[in-house]
Amino acid sequence: MDLRGKSAVVTGGGNGIGRALCLAFAERGVNVAVADIEADAARSVAEEAASHGVQSRGLAVDVTDEASVAALAEASWSAFGSVEILVSNAGVMHAPSPLHECNAADFDWVFAVNVRGAMNGIRAFVPRFVAAGRPSRVVNTASEHALGVPHIGGGVYTASKHALLGLSDVLRRELPGHVKVSVLCPGIVDSTLWRAGARRQAEYGGPTAAPEAGGAFMRQVGMPAAEVAAKAVEGIGNGDFYIVTHPHAVDIAQRRWGEVERAFAQQAPRREGDERYDLEPVLGGSLRSPAPQSPAPPKEASP
Ligand SMILES: NC(=O)c1ccc[n+]([C@@H]2O[C@H](COP(=O)([O-])OP(=O)(O)OC[C@H]3O[C@@H](n4cnc5c(N)ncnc54)[C@H](O)[C@@H]3O)[C@@H](O)[C@H]2O)c1
Repeated sequence: MDLRGKSAVVTGGGNGIGRALCLAFAERGVNVAVADIEADAARSVAEEAASHGVQSRGLAVDVTDEASVAALAEASWSAFGSVEILVSNAGVMHAPSPLHECNAADFDWVFAVNVRGAMNGIRAFVPRFVAAGRPSRVVNTASEHALGVPHIGGGVYTASKHALLGLSDVLRRELPGHVKVSVLCPGIVDSTLWRAGARRQAEYGGPTAAPEAGGAFMRQVGMPAAEVAAKAVEGIGNGDFYIVTHPHAVDIAQRRWGEVERAFAQQAPRREGDERYDLEPVLGGSLRSPAPQSPAPPKEASP
């Protein structure tokens, strides 16, 4: 899909990866609605985007609230006439702690923003994309943790990112061919995620302190958000399902697959008659992954 002249809505667009995505879209001639629970940040990113000569809006949204996301869709269509790209990118991370010490409010908050937020986006935007019949994109920001990179102390966050991968994988098989789905799976990125607790809504326990050391760590080891955004925008244009950014994560993803494969070899190896339980002939081709959009590139030399 040629991105120029299209319009995108990016939730969590006020900071970090979302901000970088908004600016990368604007640089490529895409109009952007920058949507965030931090309304001032959204407006300021919208102003930056406008300096690239595109139309932009900074809009307040709470992605956990279905009515707020529906209003975002309405405001975006009335601003731009049409919308072709939704990036459900708003996300939060709970304070690091082992799972048995996480409380119900941690769980509810992280799932409300990270998973329910994307679901609210699907409900508000996808019917319009389907009805419009034009090439369009739904992008969910997951994480390398959805691919098997362990996040000790981030168990609830990790579970939410697996949920997003599952949601996206089913969604892509349910939609007509003109609506492509992508799942963005970055490793660590320099962003403001370390102070996510400061934005925690009252119904999920209210704001929590964010130790500055978290910010220093992310700045030290995180990939620049602009680098992630450049890869993401390319993948979105191509209609790629998996959009990955941190090369080392492939080894961890392969280790996970290797463990699954060994479990099958030991516990459930293929045997005569086993196809009796195979649902593929019953459900048809929907169990197969759609053909990849981008051809596999040649292996790159390290930069
Ligand atoms: N930074 C990383 O290392 C990393 C790695 C992989 C994936 N991610 C994911 O990338 C996405 C963007 O995060 P980031 O790292 O740029 O962090 P960030 O904190 O800089 O940006 C997240 C944005 O989401 C907004 N937000 C939070 N709750 C919201 C709500 N209820 N409604 C609307 N907006 C809300 C915040 O105000 C913020 O602007 C998240 O989904 C995150 O889980 C981050």
